[in-house]
Parts: sequence; C-alpha cells; structure tokens
Amino acid sequence: MNILVTGGAGYIGSHTCVALLAAGHSVIIADNLRNSKRETVAKIMQIAVKEVAFYEIDVTDSRAVDEIFMNYKIDGVIHFAGLKAVGESIEMPLDYYYNNIVSTLVLAKACQKFNVNKFVFSSSATVYGDNTVPFVETMDLLPTTNPYGETKSMSERILTDTAKANPSFSVSILRYFNPVGAHESGLIGEAPNGVPNNLMPYVTQVAKRKLEKLRIFGNDYPTVDGTGVRDYIHVVDLAEGHVAALGNLINGVHTYNLGTGKGTSVLELIKAFDQANNIKIPYEISDRRPGDIASCYADASKAKNELGWEARLNIYDMCRDAWRFEKNHK
Ligand code: NAD
Ligand code: UD1
Repeated sequence: MNILVTGGAGYIGSHTCVALLAAGHSVIIADNLRNSKRETVAKIMQIAVKEVAFYEIDVTDSRAVDEIFMNYKIDGVIHFAGLKAVGESIEMPLDYYYNNIVSTLVLAKACQKFNVNKFVFSSSATVYGDNTVPFVETMDLLPTTNPYGETKSMSERILTDTAKANPSFSVSILRYFNPVGAHESGLIGEAPNGVPNNLMPYVTQVAKRKLEKLRIFGNDYPTVDGTGVRDYIHVVDLAEGHVAALGNLINGVHTYNLGTGKGTSVLELIKAFDQANNIKIPYEISDRRPGDIASCYADASKAKNELGWEARLNIYDMCRDAWRFEKNHK
C-alpha cells in the first residue's frame, strides 16, 4: 500500500517508516521538521535500503496536503505529526490546540475528499488520566490536566464522529504508553532539543555525562519502591504495532493500547540500565513533578487478540538500544 506518514521524520514515525518499508509498503512522509531533521529521512532509506518520498510541509495546510493526495494514490494515512511536550503545551495552549487539532481535521477531510478509508492515529495513554491500573480501552477517559492531553482526547472524538458519519472510514486509534529505545543500527532514535523532560533520554544524557545526575521525582508513591511506575515499550515494537494495525483495519473506530502490560519503576529502570550497559546512573530524590500519576501501565490483551501484535523486547533491550543511539548521536 502507499502510506502517507505525517510526522515520519520524528522519533516514532521514523521507526514506523522503517517497519512499513520492511513489510513491503511504500512510504510518503509529510513533515515540517519542527521537531526533527531532514537527515533522518536519509537514514530511514539507508536502514531500509529503499526510497521514500518526502514533503516538507505543514499538515495544517490543506492545500499542501491535498497536493500529496493528487500526486499519489494514497491507500492509508498514519498521523503522527503533532506537538508533544506537556509543559510547553501549558505555556502555549493555542499552538498546541491549533497544530494538533487542525492537522487531524485537515487529514480526515482529505481522506473524505480523496476516498481514502484507512486512518491510524497516534494517541497516548495520557487520555486515561488517573484511572486505576491497568488501563483498559473501555475505561472512561479522564481529564488530563494539560492541553497536550486534551488534544489527544479531542482528536479521538473527531475521528470517532467522522467514522460514525461515514461507515466505510476505518480508524485505528493507538494509545501509546512510554516509547523508549532506538533502532538497533543506532542511526535513528530520540533526540530531544534542550534538557529532556522524559526519563530515558535524561538517563542516557547522564550516562554520557552531558547532565550531572538524575533527579527522581518523588519516592513516596504507592508503588513497589515509592517511585513512579510506567509501561516502557521499545519503539521498534511500537512501530510494528502500526504495521499490524494497518493490516487489520476494519470499518469504524477501534482503539488499542500499545504497551507491554508490565510496569517498571524509576529505580528499576536505573538498575536495568546499569545491568544492560554497565553504567551506574547517579541520582538524588527530589519532589514529585506536578501532574504526575503514581502508576501507568496497559492491559495489552486487546492488541494481542485482535491485531496479533505484542511487544517482544524487554527493559534491558530498551536500555541497551537507547544508550547505543545516545553514544553515536552528536
Ligand atoms: P516527534 O516530535 O519526534 O515527531 C513528531 C513529528 O511531527 C516531528 O517530526 C515534527 O516535526 C512533526 N510535526 C509536528 N507538527 C507538524 C505539522 N503541523 N506538520 C507537519 N509535521 C509536523 O514525536 P514522537 O515522539 O515521534 O511522537 C509522534 C506522535 O506520537 C505524536 O502525535 C505524539 O503526540 C504521539 N505520542 C508520543 C509519545 C511519546 O512518548 N513519544 C507518547 C504518546 C503519544
Ligand atoms: C510523560 C508525559 C505524558 C506522556 C508520556 C509518554 C509529562 C508530565 N507527561 O509522562 O503526557 O504521555 O510522557 O511520552 O511530561 N522521572 C524522573 N525524573 C526525570 C524524568 C522523569 O523521576 O527527570 C519519572 C517521572 O516522575 C515518571 C517516570 O520517570 O514517574 C517517567 O517519566 P516520563 O518519561 O516523563 O513519562 P510520563 O511521566 O509517563
């Protein structure tokens, strides 16, 4: 199939392009490079040993999007493009709502106009808010305390209503847990701008001595050792989840958790990083981070039963591959 991948130069998008090409699909990337680099597109082609088409466009621009649909017979869309920093979304709510909502509207409209019925959307476990773990797809969504999370809930709603009005539209909403790690080649991975907000890139930068030590945000949560528990998932597994979702699209909207189903605490992750890479991460305990929840992990059984997909790689693989990328990355 010809797949339009918005945000395909980004972290999850680039790994998914590699997985799509390996599965025999053709890939057309649309990315404005706001949070990624053009050279990542070359690296995707280097890993896959295949060509991809690249459009440097903003997917809120309906004319630019329509042009792609006119140039190619698009069979399906995977919509990754979006802004994703929680703190920044509180400071710049209008940018977040505009970018993340208008992009979804423009792409869904283009699908209607050009009769494209396959759509896969990047959502987040953040839409569950502070529900009881494990999170199951049937749970009511709770407020997310930040504009970023709200853009995901709203986009889910927009796509659900669109599919109700057009019964041949098939949408897969994928709720990611915590993607970490990198491709085994070490060529593509997560390279956040500035000081990382998320745990794994912070840990790899401490390992590289770019940062002095990790601050653990709270050790008084009701968890195994008091530190926050998350469902870390290797980005290569996550990428393969998209290929499975695309291959199993059925009419209507279907929502899947993409996680491992296993929670890991901050202290457990640091220990796994040491065991995988033989590097001790210096840390100190600091205050809880506002907005954090104690535990977040998936019930991952629906994706296994309906998509035939489950995560294969474990926390040691994630720590090893994240470090390999950080070491190689300038
Ligand atoms: P990323 O920032 O690495 O990739 C997003 C890409 O989209 C970037 O290349 C950026 O340049 C591009 N982009 C943003 N707005 C655009 C626009 N208007 N037009 C064209 N391109 C645009 O982020 P990622 O981690 O790969 O995340 C991909 C998607 O998955 C996002 O929608 C994100 O919200 C969602 N998600 C990510 C995580 C995570 O932890 N990384 C978790 C849950 C959900
Ligand atoms: C973050 C986002 C969330 C998004 C998710 C997956 C915030 C507030 N939330 O959440 O919306 O869906 O990523 O991308 O940014 N930690 C430390 N020290 C650090 C960094 C993190 O102790 O320097 C702890 C956190 O308290 C948490 C765990 O590590 O317990 C994971 O943190 P992080 O990687 O930021 O992910 P989430 O909190 O799940």
